[in-house]
Amino acid sequence: MNEDSSVKTLKKNEVRSPVCVGREDDIKKQRRTTATVHDREVVVFYHDGKFYALDCRCYHAGGPLHQGEIEDINGQPCIICPWHKYKITLTTGEGLYQAINPREPSSTPKWQSKGVKQRTHRVTVDSGKVYVTLSDIDDNIDSDYYAKMYKKTIHTPKEK
Ligand code: FES
Repeated sequence: MNEDSSVKTLKKNEVRSPVCVGREDDIKKQRRTTATVHDREVVVFYHDGKFYALDCRCYHAGGPLHQGEIEDINGQPCIICPWHKYKITLTTGEGLYQAINPREPSSTPKWQSKGVKQRTHRVTVDSGKVYVTLSDIDDNIDSDYYAKMYKKTIHTPKEK
């Protein structure tokens, strides 16, 4: 460990405080940005007039969601992971897949949900700045594994 720094341990209320991730105009123009919110890597998308924030690393194998394309699937905006093309809803973080019910006469696949797989976070806009507040759901969500793996360690100067 660097002698001039110590690892800062974040308290629960610090982790839940909103963090500014950029200017509203800039993010609207770029359509997406990444940021470290406390110690968590987050991607913020601007799509069809709305902001969305999710864990940046895909729940499947840690793919970089900020490099994916957005598609509307079943009327829901989804990020398509660039690594293995998993589809994740921007609003809820659900993983989607196509399935055929062998008992139904139609062989057309239908979109189904695997449940919430990717942690989503709250986005607010205030005075032209965009803020992300980390999700306060205590349940374990699949993307937590890669969020921890890619966790940013915060070093602060050692007090003398
Ligand atoms: Fe995202 Fe595999 S890492 S689909």
